[in-house]
Amino acid sequence: MVNPAVPVLAVLSGVLAAPHLYRVGSFVWLYFLRPSSIRRYLHGPAPYALVTGATDGIGKAFARELLRNGFNLVLHGRNETKMLKVVEELRTSVPETAGADIRYFIADAGQAGHDFAKMVEPLKDLHITLVYHNVGGSDTSPERLDERSEDYIYGMIHKNALFALFLNRVLLPHLRRSAQSGPVLVQFMGSIAADVAPPRLAIYAATKGFLRSLARGLDNDELFFDGPTGVRYTYLAVGPVHAENQETPMEENFRTPSCETFAKAVMARTGCGLRRVAPYAAHSFLMWFTSNVLGEAVVDKFSAAEIHSLIQRSKRVE
Ligand SMILES: NC(=O)c1ccc[n+]([C@@H]2O[C@H](COP(=O)([O-])OP(=O)(O)OC[C@H]3O[C@@H](n4cnc5c(N)ncnc54)[C@H](OP(=O)(O)O)[C@@H]3O)[C@@H](O)[C@H]2O)c1
Repeated sequence: MVNPAVPVLAVLSGVLAAPHLYRVGSFVWLYFLRPSSIRRYLHGPAPYALVTGATDGIGKAFARELLRNGFNLVLHGRNETKMLKVVEELRTSVPETAGADIRYFIADAGQAGHDFAKMVEPLKDLHITLVYHNVGGSDTSPERLDERSEDYIYGMIHKNALFALFLNRVLLPHLRRSAQSGPVLVQFMGSIAADVAPPRLAIYAATKGFLRSLARGLDNDELFFDGPTGVRYTYLAVGPVHAENQETPMEENFRTPSCETFAKAVMARTGCGLRRVAPYAAHSFLMWFTSNVLGEAVVDKFSAAEIHSLIQRSKRVE
């Protein structure tokens, strides 16, 4: 005779296993089976994608991929000479899109006091359907908070959080207009730092946490309150990426993709419908592993060791 506890245990195991199986299924679907839906954003007579921090690293790789996918571009940078070179390089490296329009604007994202309305005035008639708030980053220097100047702290917050906030504010009416003919998506570049907050990167980590809440709150605004307006938001949870522009670029490997590989992953997940997504599969696994398998104490010790070695490397580079 079957022990009456057996079916109860079987049902209990099924109930406990279901969320994990769902998670594995979602992972396989998102990273290996789901076709890219980036072309949903190619609507209207001339669709544009806007990328901030587009003169190097990940932003430049985004620009190239967006051009390949048929978008016209609005690029942002801080150095006009470098921007002109990048525009030229994009035109020659993606010759099949010779007819695409590439515009740009220049602004130091680390400074306060921009006239954002004036900044976007030349863009007001463009049909912008995708926005990548990519500009950002941090140095790896050993100073603690009380050794940082106020100017440094304000600059870090402006570059990583407030520039995206105020630029988004003035773009929103234009984006809602574009959304009348199809979906519009705004993406904020986050970082695993927002989840693990390593030592010496507390301000940077906090700015990325700001973007994470901003993406969710603004998405709720456009979706559930007087909406839906058709404008959606996503927070991109990003792990390490090899970018040559950084003071101490991390070695490229399976965990740390090149900017080009990472940009392709972002294009593949663009429009996946998630408000928070790690576009690169290995980053997604890393984030799941650090928050579900390793305890906080292990993660904190490990990230402290990693920052320590980055600081040592940047001292050697100087
Ligand atoms: N790389 C990673 O491992 C990693 C990991 C997690 C998250 N992220 C995030 O990904 C984004 C891009 O990072 P990245 O590694 O590609 O950075 P990057 O290689 O340093 O490139 C940053 C881009 O932003 C521009 N920029 C920097 N400061 C600026 C300022 N004050 N005003 C205007 N433009 C400015 C740079 O211009 P110039 O060409 O003039 O320098 C460049 O075009 C950032 O938001 C970063 O936080 C990166």
